Amino acid sequence: MKIRPRRLRKNPIIREMVAETRLSKDMFIYPYFVVPGKKIVHPIDAMPGINHFSMDELLKDVEKGLKIGINKVLIFGVGEEKTKDASSSFSNNTVVVKAVKELKKKFGDDLYVITDVCVCAYTTHGHCGILHDDYVHNDASVEVLAKMALAHAQAGADMVAPSDMMDGRIGAIRELLDEKGMENTAIMSYAIKFASAYYGPFREAADSAPQKGDRKSYQMDARNGREALREGLLDEAEGADILMVKPAMAYMDVISNLRQNTLLPVACYNVSGEYSMVKAAAAKGWIDEQKIVLENMHALTRAGADIIISYHTRDLLQKGWI
Ligand code: PBG
Ligand code: ZN
Repeated sequence: MKIRPRRLRKNPIIREMVAETRLSKDMFIYPYFVVPGKKIVHPIDAMPGINHFSMDELLKDVEKGLKIGINKVLIFGVGEEKTKDASSSFSNNTVVVKAVKELKKKFGDDLYVITDVCVCAYTTHGHCGILHDDYVHNDASVEVLAKMALAHAQAGADMVAPSDMMDGRIGAIRELLDEKGMENTAIMSYAIKFASAYYGPFREAADSAPQKGDRKSYQMDARNGREALREGLLDEAEGADILMVKPAMAYMDVISNLRQNTLLPVACYNVSGEYSMVKAAAAKGWIDEQKIVLENMHALTRAGADIIISYHTRDLLQKGWI
């Protein structure tokens, strides 16, 4: 036998040398849920290790995170007034706007602040847009989303991340931001977001479940891979700076295909349900958490993800897993 692949697996040194993918702390983004009030650190049941934070506590936690290299955060606002027209979403007074201002004031360029832009936590009906006769009206929703993105940008967000899946919102947000002189605010598009049962724990955390119906008229059908690429390329053409695939683990083919068809950085969102499953099995002692998490993260990297948004980020960095 001339060819023996096992020669390159002989010991840890050679295995390290020929490793095709490597994880770096720089590729991880850590999500935060911010609520109004003071002195609140409220654990989210289905997501062990993840909390709701009031702003004072958020600042403390981010400071701790920065020391271990968590310097990119994705902010979600929870507990804001809910209306039919999502008017609270684009106010300059939301908990997200306040949090962004405080974070940037305190940490400046040491911290890169990304905000989630979507109205499902700000509507009485819990949909990611504006309802007209029970249907999420695309263009009316885009208008509101653009205003919300602008409020975040003006508060000082480095990047906005629209997660609504309306058609044309990346172009509309880019246009409004540019018109208002916010041309340096980047956009990470949740370009390929599937209607997924893996968001279950998040919806409890964000209190953003649709009251009636589901999100299938705007989020993608899990069966579609070609359409996924189409969504990605559209957002690239509309001016997105980073394209994201969500969820991650069950959609690695989509990540891979997107990676091969765009020149933009590709991100993936290792979502709440994916996190909860690992945490639950680990708590039972059925799996080795560290090994499973590293295997999952390596797999996402191998598939082509340049950036990973994950609730595991704190464990990965704090426990020295990477
Ligand atoms: C809101 C939003 C969701 C997630 C991120 N932004 C939920 C949804 O679309 O229902 C999911 C994140 C997660 O599950 O961790 N549009
Ligand atoms: Zn939403």
